[in-house]
Amino acid sequence: MMTAEDNETLTRVGPGTAMGAWMRLFWIPFYPSGGLSPDSQPKRVKLLGEDLVAFRDSDGKPGLVANACPHRGAPLMFGRNEECGIRCVYHGWKFDISGKVMDMPAEPEQSRMRERVRLKAYPCQERNGVLWTYMGDAAEPPALPEIEFNLVPAENVHISFRVQECNWLQALEGEIDSAHAPILHGRIDGGGAINQWVAGQDLRPKFECKRRDFGVSIASRRIVDAETHYWRVNQYMAPFWTLVPPQSKFPELSGHAWVPIDDETTLCLMFSYTPATPLYPKTREVLANGHRGRETGHASVNAFEPQPPTTPYGDFRTRFRPDTGYGFDYQSQQTSWFSGLPGLWIQDAACQSGVAPIFDRTQENLCASDTGIVMTRRMLLESVKAHRDGGARPAGADKPETFMVRAISMHLPAGADWETAGSGPMTARVGADFGYVL
Ligand code: FES
Ligand SMILES: [Fe+2]
Repeated sequence: MMTAEDNETLTRVGPGTAMGAWMRLFWIPFYPSGGLSPDSQPKRVKLLGEDLVAFRDSDGKPGLVANACPHRGAPLMFGRNEECGIRCVYHGWKFDISGKVMDMPAEPEQSRMRERVRLKAYPCQERNGVLWTYMGDAAEPPALPEIEFNLVPAENVHISFRVQECNWLQALEGEIDSAHAPILHGRIDGGGAINQWVAGQDLRPKFECKRRDFGVSIASRRIVDAETHYWRVNQYMAPFWTLVPPQSKFPELSGHAWVPIDDETTLCLMFSYTPATPLYPKTREVLANGHRGRETGHASVNAFEPQPPTTPYGDFRTRFRPDTGYGFDYQSQQTSWFSGLPGLWIQDAACQSGVAPIFDRTQENLCASDTGIVMTRRMLLESVKAHRDGGARPAGADKPETFMVRAISMHLPAGADWETAGSGPMTARVGADFGYVL
């Protein structure tokens, strides 16, 4: 059982918190490149509890700055994005992407004030359609982490962003919990690919977990027959990444960055990719548009309900939320879908955020299938406290190659060791295929 104090340590991410300081050791993916155009509307962003604004300047360079103007705190989300800077609409102070003052039109010309004042700004980098920022205080940020989805050619990958109304860890825990998949996502009418999925033949997986430099490997074993076991290994990677294995009917690797917007809201960046070949056009079509009116693991174009520009990540808010009932349909629960919830990611989101944005973990009753969650929490608490108390830096913070990892799903002879058999396939090599038959 978890103490209330540990629950607080794990879930609070704002400035001055232990988890917040630990997360700020890592680069954070925060926006799709395509969401910002040169000299177009700045976008309201919030990360780790900090109110920010993202924009792209006239040269195409991305900027991520404080929302509050350092003059008297007017919101820069209303700023004019013009001539290589963002200009506050209140008194016209203008800043470049590094936060340097470019103009103070209402100040005496000889004023030296513009040399003293700075707008808070975080460094940004851009790679393969994703904008990243570093919110730590290192003068020299480390290199961007090498995570395979962001290194493969654009035609191999589909990426989506959406907002979920719960704490980052609550969402993350749903994706290292392999036991729920054939139940929550199943059907009762015998139709559909998930019902034919091998994982559904044994609903009582046995878990084996292993601490790694990058985080935790969570292996689940299901018995296929006397000679064959089916192993699925999900990965947790610091600070907020999960990787999900492919399966024969869905041969894509996928995963998420569960980026904390604040303690109670999460930006869910999802990626699906094939490591050595372009995605099938049909697959991309389904991921982008949904399947027969239902959502896949990705939020489809139909799911979004954009909010006003004052709402952080307003373009990525969906209509499937706690206050809309997530589109729950009792009738479909009686006739077709086990959950009555209209699609994969909604089923997960409803279970993760339907009761409280931060669940009181002292009230849980953890069981055998929660082994991976227990180990991940333990690893997080140890690493966060070691950083808080002694400044210890987690292995991956300074070594980008730490994250070249894949999740795997393999049929192995009964009794075979998943770690030995999976060690090659669990290593990501850009351009290389799975290395085993799905
Ligand atoms: S508050 Fe922004 S210029 Fe005055
Ligand atoms: Fe799920």
